[in-house]
Amino acid sequence: MAFEKEIKRRRTFAVISHPDAGKTTLTEKLLLFGGAIHIAGAVKSNKIKKTATSDWMEIEKQRGISVATSVMGFEYKDTKINILDTPGHQDFAEDTFRTLTAVDSVIVVVDTAKGVEAQTRKLMNVCRMRKTPVIVFVNKMDRLGKDPWELMDELEKELEISVRPLSFPISQGDGFKGVYNLFENNLSLFEAGKQELTEATEIENLDDPLVDELLEDDADQLREDVELVEGVYPEFEMDSYLNGEVAPVFFGSALNNFGVRELLDCFIKIAPSPRPKQAEERIVEPTEDEFSAFIFKIHANMDPNHRNRIAFAKVVSGKFERNTNYKHIRLGKNLKFSSPTAFMAQKKSILEEAYPGDIVGLPDSGNFKIGDVLTSGEELHYKGIPSFSPEMFKYIENADPMKSKQLNKGIDQLMDEGVAQVFTNQFNGRKIIGTVGQLQFEVIEYRLLHEYNAKCRWEPISLHKACWIESEDEAALIDFKKRKAQYMAKDKHGRDVFLADSSYVLQMAQGNFDKIKFHFTSEF
Ligand code: G4P
Repeated sequence: MAFEKEIKRRRTFAVISHPDAGKTTLTEKLLLFGGAIHIAGAVKSNKIKKTATSDWMEIEKQRGISVATSVMGFEYKDTKINILDTPGHQDFAEDTFRTLTAVDSVIVVVDTAKGVEAQTRKLMNVCRMRKTPVIVFVNKMDRLGKDPWELMDELEKELEISVRPLSFPISQGDGFKGVYNLFENNLSLFEAGKQELTEATEIENLDDPLVDELLEDDADQLREDVELVEGVYPEFEMDSYLNGEVAPVFFGSALNNFGVRELLDCFIKIAPSPRPKQAEERIVEPTEDEFSAFIFKIHANMDPNHRNRIAFAKVVSGKFERNTNYKHIRLGKNLKFSSPTAFMAQKKSILEEAYPGDIVGLPDSGNFKIGDVLTSGEELHYKGIPSFSPEMFKYIENADPMKSKQLNKGIDQLMDEGVAQVFTNQFNGRKIIGTVGQLQFEVIEYRLLHEYNAKCRWEPISLHKACWIESEDEAALIDFKKRKAQYMAKDKHGRDVFLADSSYVLQMAQGNFDKIKFHFTSEF
């Protein structure tokens, strides 16, 4: 019973946003509420500067600091909250995609003035694919932004999800007075620059004269807005939210610590505790006695004196215990961990046990790949962690003929870590590295040299997209591969990949070969 209670009280989620919308600030305020940190500004060191800097060493330095804060666990009102941090820099978007496979829900932060931006849209596509429950936090209400009603329409259209406001702003910008909490039916008034919150003002209903007293001219507008919300939007339904069909929307200002408590208090009530997970063999319930977990992230230590890596495991079922033998399914061998790491707020500490929903840091000297599974013994394979069609491509060549073994080993290991994707061109046998940003090429080159003593050289290749192909019609597939022989490659698992050199070529191929399915993620 105690075991089930532990699972039920866990909330594992990520805060996602387009850079600059306020993800770091909101995360920090959530930690402040949880008592996990005591001063604002503590998480800032974790922030990867989002400017398109090519100084990736600087970024890696910051990433180094961020190991401790990659997962931030804390207790709030008898709930164990695990926030999984996602890198702000868009060149590490793939990292974020993978982290999303380990969360049970997300909070999307949107800037009230900018609305839905590119990165938010992309991340939301991933959430939709996985039916992840989503809560939207409209931030920076202390600044002049879009009209809340227009913004709500934009959210629905751009995020392709129904929305349901659970709080509503009272004016905005300089005139921002606070939010009305539609979930609890109370009023929170805003005072700019506040670092801690006073209690929300409880009011029985909006006809209360106190509302006029407190809000003066804005009282009637609020009544109108709230009436309209109740009239326009259907009643909030938990199930629709949990199925990823409806996103509750909150308004506030993270910087001013406003609307954050409304968000957090509602979050712990409605956000899901760890959910069952589909393995290739069967669905695994978190409440099962037998332990299972999967690796969703590997963090390499850039310091050459401390080469080992940390593999991040999400516990899916059963209880994880220190110094216990677990089966590494891909390698078919047992491993025991003497110093697994727990992540509580900003401290790392040795962990004795962990429950479904928790993230365990496993020191690793090269045993793990992204997607690996650990269990008490059962042969389980959790559905892979998807890779997405990369957007930038270069041929990677060996610049030192004496070191080709080192180079290949380096490429293999870096790809296992998920730094980028490698494709082997079937026509000329050359290796192509695909990334989502320029930075990864620099990371790969540097790490190959410093960790594997191998030198690489990049050569340009003009490619628009790499997409995975399949067909139920074997003959059609063979025909396609023959006709497009120059553009066929294999990914690291040996699957067929079509390299389209322009969007026109891709469109033509999709039009001309209707028996072939083109996929833009590796999981289909
Ligand atoms: P990110 O992690 O999503 O990239 O965003 P981050 O929290 O770093 O916030 C981006 C900028 O927006 C920061 O300003 C931050 O102070 C500001 N900000 C966050 N929430 C609010 C809000 O509610 N209202 C207003 N007015 N601003 C907000 P910066 O100047 O880039 O950084 P800093 O010098 O303040 O650290």
